[in-house]
Amino acid sequence: MGSGSGHELAVQRAARSEVELDPFDPVLDSPVFDLSVLGTQPPLRRLPPPEAHGPSNVDPFANINACTTEHLDQLAHILEVRGAQPWQSKMRARCFKAARLAEGMSIVEIGCGTGVVARELARFAGRTGRVVGIDLSPALLDHAARRPSPPGASKIEYVLGDAYNLPFPGGYFDASCSFTLLAHLDHPDRAIREMTRVTGRTVMVFDQDYQTLVFENSNTRLTRKILQHGADYNVVDGWCGRKLPGMLVRHGLEDVGCCPFVYCERDSQSYLITIAERFAALAVRHGVITEPEGIAWVKELHDRSAEGTFFASLNYYFAFGTARHDVRSRTTTMEIPS
Ligand SMILES: C[S@@+](CC[C@H](N)C(=O)[O-])C[C@H]1O[C@@H](n2cnc3c(N)ncnc32)[C@H](O)[C@@H]1O
Repeated sequence: MGSGSGHELAVQRAARSEVELDPFDPVLDSPVFDLSVLGTQPPLRRLPPPEAHGPSNVDPFANINACTTEHLDQLAHILEVRGAQPWQSKMRARCFKAARLAEGMSIVEIGCGTGVVARELARFAGRTGRVVGIDLSPALLDHAARRPSPPGASKIEYVLGDAYNLPFPGGYFDASCSFTLLAHLDHPDRAIREMTRVTGRTVMVFDQDYQTLVFENSNTRLTRKILQHGADYNVVDGWCGRKLPGMLVRHGLEDVGCCPFVYCERDSQSYLITIAERFAALAVRHGVITEPEGIAWVKELHDRSAEGTFFASLNYYFAFGTARHDVRSRTTTMEIPS
């Protein structure tokens, strides 16, 4: 690799990446790192104020309707960028297969955001099925409604609603799911109880476990500080992913299965870099690291991407089970993704 021309190196780099990148795209050579996201974060959500009792959790998805329009547009963009990563899409397809979703089913997604997952569910459910997306944010639902339902699927219905109080009678859907919602809730158990109530058959939950976030960076001490702080303060529950199977068992679901995934990226033009930037910005804002440290840390990630040594990963977990309203959960199974 040492003797290759710049062009060859760029081609090799793109070939190694999971994401299709144009090796001639100038964006590869002009990394963007911007700590200005700090200024667009919503107000700190937990009282008393941080000065008195240390930093507060600033998870924007936990307080979605307090976000500015600009911040909501950024979040919508990030959800779509994440959703478009081929590996993310493969993980979702694997989950739907494991949970045996089939054409003709009625499925509700709670916390649907811009509709990334709902659109894939609609493909599975087909013309004879029905997909409903629920979200607490009118603005994100608006983003979702502007995108067409996939060809060959019935029109997705988007409904304003709260995970804690779903506007449907018991057993209304064949299946319900939440994808990266529970980590942002103060009371995930209440949401699972509601999902179980409105579901006749399959309940599915999928989440990232922020504590498992990995970035290759030469400054180990700084990396630890930034990632730990982000897992503790940029999301309500940085350990959510690992808790999913247990939560379903506790809610009396039967035949609870679990698929673990390690999601990985090898360039800084994808999704995980957006977490790195947000975590670094938050660590600066909370005084855990200095601004020059934050900038240097993020810059190294982009430099690594340019030279082909960028590596980042994050664990995701999918758990699913059968809602039987009169039977307690008896068994647990483990599904290994193929
Ligand atoms: C991280 S996003 C996930 C969006 C989508 N599932 C995806 O994977 O692209 C979390 C979503 O949950 C929504 N949300 C947060 N609290 C909620 C609640 N109590 N009820 C319904 N939706 C909620 C947010 O508005 C946001 O759209």
